[in-house]
Amino acid sequence: MTKAEQLQTVAILVPGDFNDHAVDRINHTFRRVTIERADPALVTDEMRSNVRGIASFAGINAAMMDALPNLELIASFGVGYDSVDVGHAAAKNIMVTNTPDVLTEEVADTAIGLLINTVRDLPRAETWLRDGSWLRKGNYPLSRLTLRGRKVGIFGMGRIGQAIARRLEAFGLPVAYHNRRRVEGLSYQYHPTLQGLAEAVDTLISVAPGGASTEKAVNAEILSALGANGVFVNIGRGSTVDEAALATALANGTIAAAGLDVFADEPNVPKALLDAPNTSLLPHVGSASDHTRRAMADLCVDNLVSWFTERRPLTPVPETANVRAKAIPGKV
Ligand code: NAP
Ligand code: 8YV
Repeated sequence: MTKAEQLQTVAILVPGDFNDHAVDRINHTFRRVTIERADPALVTDEMRSNVRGIASFAGINAAMMDALPNLELIASFGVGYDSVDVGHAAAKNIMVTNTPDVLTEEVADTAIGLLINTVRDLPRAETWLRDGSWLRKGNYPLSRLTLRGRKVGIFGMGRIGQAIARRLEAFGLPVAYHNRRRVEGLSYQYHPTLQGLAEAVDTLISVAPGGASTEKAVNAEILSALGANGVFVNIGRGSTVDEAALATALANGTIAAAGLDVFADEPNVPKALLDAPNTSLLPHVGSASDHTRRAMADLCVDNLVSWFTERRPLTPVPETANVRAKAIPGKV
């Protein structure tokens, strides 16, 4: 058997809906096995014996990994991997890869669009034109808020945070940030606490990952520190925000407005945020262009190809960087 023929025998499990380009490439290179969702109760004996890789949008928990004893690699579609139990994967010598860098500029563009929509009320202004209000009632009311004079804080100054900061510099806005560690070589003001950052700025953009260390980090105290002119934008993960505290802060004027691309329980959006007149809401579209999703699909599948040909990943997550492929006699 040639190497290509051997690869076509490798079973890759794809739970639920997946990117079309990634599906085409997996079909062409491997043997694709489908399952309605990543639920161990749906795993068949055939999957249990043969599945060696997973390609997934969805989260993969410990029970799903345990249901697939021959699993070697989880190729997660997206840069954030908070929905994959990477601690369990590392303990079981399962590699996890993600799709960093290829989406950075797209997500930063979306963050800036969402910030402007939130501050200048552009989605509602467009509705005013489309529903005939411009003809019937005259000009759309002036926006209460402006970007002019704002100080922006970035929570999560990583790849995407830095791409957002570069755009904000061109807008003439000062930028500060909070991470657990200062980023060497960055001249933006660093705050060792999120509270300190929120006190220093009036506009907070969260692009921090999900997970235990950021769970509900943006809470009532942080929002109160932003002040009555405060604007909060979230392009990172919904779990980083106390959504009930955010709804209260928007309703009672603790902050002025919020722009959200991500939510704690997607696709469910709390009614209080949907009904609020001072929110701008998007359905998790940060990276959602054909161009960028194709690049993410390629990187996701390239990780599978590299693992099953070279026995090494291209973009391992740090938690599984030490996982090593086992040699399997007679198999790629
Ligand atoms: P990254 O380069 O790893 O940046 C993450 C940053 O967050 C790092 O600078 C990290 O610095 C900081 N951080 C992590 N945990 C923290 C904590 N507990 N407290 C304070 N800072 C913390 O990742 P990225 O590529 O920029 O992506 C960031 C996130 O954006 C992803 O994880 C994902 O959740 C989200 N995302 C959303 C969309 C969307 O469609 N809306 C698209 C892509 C990505 P330290 O380690 O020094 O703390
Ligand atoms: C994707 C994202 O929508 O990369 C991420 O972390 O949140 C988005 O780019 C998502 O991962 C698709 O599953």
